[in-house]
Amino acid sequence: MERIAILDFGSQYTQIIARKVRELQVFAEIYPYSIDLEKLKALSPSGIILSGGPSSVYSENAPKPTFDLFSLGIPILGICYGLQLIAYSLGGAVDKAAKREYGRANLIIDKNDALFEGISKGTQVWMSHGDALTKIPDGFEIIAHTENAPIAAIRNSQRKIYGVQFHPEVHHSIEGKKILENFVRKICSCKDTWDMHSFIDTAINKIRQEVGYSEVICALSGGVDSTVLAVLLSKAIGNKLHCIHIDTGLMRLNESSNLMKLFRENFNISIDLVEAKDIFLNRLKGITDPEQKRKIIGNTFIELFEIEARKFNNAKWLAQGTLYPDVIESISVKGPSAVIKSHHNVGGLPEKMGLKLLEPFRELFKDEVRAVGKELGVPDWFIKRHPFPGPGLAIRIIGEITQERIDILQKADDIYIEEIKNANLYDEIWQAFAVLLPVQSVGVMGDERTYENVCALRAVTSVDGMTADWFQFPYEVLAKISNRIINEIRGINRVVYDITSKPPGTIEWE
Ligand code: XMP
Repeated sequence: MERIAILDFGSQYTQIIARKVRELQVFAEIYPYSIDLEKLKALSPSGIILSGGPSSVYSENAPKPTFDLFSLGIPILGICYGLQLIAYSLGGAVDKAAKREYGRANLIIDKNDALFEGISKGTQVWMSHGDALTKIPDGFEIIAHTENAPIAAIRNSQRKIYGVQFHPEVHHSIEGKKILENFVRKICSCKDTWDMHSFIDTAINKIRQEVGYSEVICALSGGVDSTVLAVLLSKAIGNKLHCIHIDTGLMRLNESSNLMKLFRENFNISIDLVEAKDIFLNRLKGITDPEQKRKIIGNTFIELFEIEARKFNNAKWLAQGTLYPDVIESISVKGPSAVIKSHHNVGGLPEKMGLKLLEPFRELFKDEVRAVGKELGVPDWFIKRHPFPGPGLAIRIIGEITQERIDILQKADDIYIEEIKNANLYDEIWQAFAVLLPVQSVGVMGDERTYENVCALRAVTSVDGMTADWFQFPYEVLAKISNRIINEIRGINRVVYDITSKPPGTIEWE
């Protein structure tokens, strides 16, 4: 498979480069800048993109490849820090004191080049740099400038090495995607078309080869990723796949039974349902601290899964729906980020049980997994479902979790989602859910005083869950939701709407 290798020098935009190239239907993957020569050669990329990064090429710890990248004969496009690295490595000069430039700039193209084919002569680009080039290396020419950057793009046509000071990958570089397309199609001559159909064919073959005659177990949470994964695995290895779904009692209303129904009606995949409500509720009794809740749930989940998985003698693999952003976080040159919340997954299990990990979606983004699901015939209503966290309603019931509070929240959540769907807003929202607060307030219903729970509603828009904004509902939709929740659910007499973005808030309340 043809591929573009993106070397990550720590830019906050590195993932966007990968996204944009994939949208052009050319496969692209990110590697750490420190990748070794043999590994890079084994990948035989059609082209290499050097990302931007926060460092200065002259600083002591500046990230630099461990070998001479520029004599490999592979086309290269350096972006921002990538451009500066080209200049620094090949005899040009970079000035720390040169004018800093952030934000919009007008790129004036000085020389016709395949890189700029079809691009307007003056086109808006996005700049974000402190250092700038003051001298280009021998054999290079300047092909574009901006008002503040006399050297905004350079080329060495013979060696097919290009560098741009701006960020073609970001939205505000209006014709940036076309520039990336010119690089991958015209300069790297990529012809292959990478789409979900070819991804599925390749993945199925790879799974068959890896797994051989052994069996695979898959923890099915009921979310989109693990469900699409199960369908793909079942296509690849049929009845050598064993799915296990643990009903923690903390799912949405009828969640587990809907999941079983989905599989029964649409796919010929066997799932073992483990009813574990009592264990979870027992262990969560009296617990109010969010991190403690998460840890108890995570550990109980692992314990139960381990017991179930032991029933399959020939199981050598554990399949997980790990996505690309999860993988990339761990290999990026960026330092580890602070733990805000302990996310619950089946981490820790494979080593403990001597299982090998099977992660066919390691290279995909969430919307690409949704496209795979669609291609595999997973119904639309399922694929478009909002994300649901592993610890479930436990982190949406603030304070102690009891069966009574779970019942109340499940009903409120169900009405909320139903009304969002009735208003045709479900697909506009990244995630919507109700939260039950440990607060009671006074109300009056039918001339009677009430003293009941407060329910908070949350709805956010987001691209990847990393940042989010609160969703601006039409008032009449909010009015209807609040009305129905208070009228139909005993135990709630007040509804409030959460208008906090992320950051500073997180999406979930705990
Ligand atoms: P936060 O609350 O951190 O959530 O802004 C970001 C996204 O992640 C989901 N989330 C989780 N998903 N296990 C999961 O599988 C977890 O423990 C977990 N915690 C939060 C959250 O619903 C949102 O989509």
